Amino acid sequence: MAAPADTTDTRFSLPQSALPTAWFNVAPHLASPLDPPLHPATREPVGPDDLAPLFASELIGQEMSADPWIDIPGEVLDVLRLWRPTPLVRARRLEAALGTTARIYFKDESVSPAGSHKPNSAVPQAFYNAKEGITRLTTETGAGQWGTALSFAAAQYDLECAVYMVRKSFEQKPYRKVIMETWGGTVVPSPIDDPSHPGSLGAAISDAVRDAVGRDDTHYALGSVLNHVLLHQTVIGLEAQQQLAQAGETRPDVVIAPCGGGSNLGGVALPFLPDPSVRLLAAEPASCPTLTQGRYEYDFGDTAGFTPLMNMYTLGHDFVPPGIHAGGLRYHGDSPIISKLVHEGRMEAVAHRQRAVFEANVLFARVEGKLPAPEAGHGIASVIQEANDATAKNEDRVILFNYCGHGLLDLAAYEEYLAGDLVDEP
Ligand SMILES: Cc1ncc(COP(=O)(O)O)c(C=O)c1O
Repeated sequence: MAAPADTTDTRFSLPQSALPTAWFNVAPHLASPLDPPLHPATREPVGPDDLAPLFASELIGQEMSADPWIDIPGEVLDVLRLWRPTPLVRARRLEAALGTTARIYFKDESVSPAGSHKPNSAVPQAFYNAKEGITRLTTETGAGQWGTALSFAAAQYDLECAVYMVRKSFEQKPYRKVIMETWGGTVVPSPIDDPSHPGSLGAAISDAVRDAVGRDDTHYALGSVLNHVLLHQTVIGLEAQQQLAQAGETRPDVVIAPCGGGSNLGGVALPFLPDPSVRLLAAEPASCPTLTQGRYEYDFGDTAGFTPLMNMYTLGHDFVPPGIHAGGLRYHGDSPIISKLVHEGRMEAVAHRQRAVFEANVLFARVEGKLPAPEAGHGIASVIQEANDATAKNEDRVILFNYCGHGLLDLAAYEEYLAGDLVDEP
């Protein structure tokens, strides 16, 4: 006789009408105001005029806003509705494989057109620029996820999009270029002036900023780090709050996400910040250990020193991270918001080695069916540690993590891992 099916719900979906209509601004919830960004030449706090050559004025306003909520324009919601709200999934088969007492939930951001959380900010950034008459955007991309997202978003508002892609990832993930070009973007490997250099996010930012400041029709778009990017990503956590309630949970005990510049982590975690009983946890690569081994000080966001200085955890703006496959986590700095929360002890941070990340990813793929992006595996490795810890203490810990992207264009990395060739520090 066949066993009866388990009828416990594992997928919590919201109707499109439940898509959040305002972003959650964490600024009023911080223990003290963020330290201001400083002008690279004068070292004085930057004002809106300093940022105007690069960013749309509405984005500059959001960067500095103290309003608790910021309305999402209808034209942005119209595009977000293509894939949002994203599902919240209870990872029951992962729970069973671990034999854990914890309940594990993940927000599935891999269902977006670009395959990651990145379009949540690419769409509003493209919209506000188009509204101000800008016709071309430049950006950097690490693994290619952000460049893909911005190419998609630019196409929604008839903008050109020039992407500077970290050379190491450009070579590791050739099909990313094809997706970006399909949406009308153009892609060049960075650094543009040194073909023998593997590149870094910091250097690609310098290339993209240099291009944007030289043209009146062009602005620059950053895929992470800045306050307005984390703001746009809060739709993730806001939806998760509604979905956890649907699942019968009052709150998560811990919220986990991988952290490169902090945008998907901020997106899922910041709406939970006002509840002090919710732990927040950043997962980063051991070979680019910004939060766990960096210094908390003012540094440039890019390699060449074009960007304002931000107070953040940094490994130094000239740090060139090893060529791990999680290209989106190869950044020397971090979001000032995330850095402040870690510095003040409100957020925890852990680092994982590349092989352990792929071990976690392969387990997740085999039991839950989804093939994670290398970045996402850092979060999954932390989820497994948390679940095992809960089991050891016999706790029914509720774990929420952000499944920030799929790895279907990262198969070369899986091939290396499965062949036994993947090393921790390339
Ligand atoms: C799938 C994925 N996850 C995470 C990240 C890290 O960025 P962030 O910390 O801004 O979420 C990236 C960056 O490219 C990414 O592509």
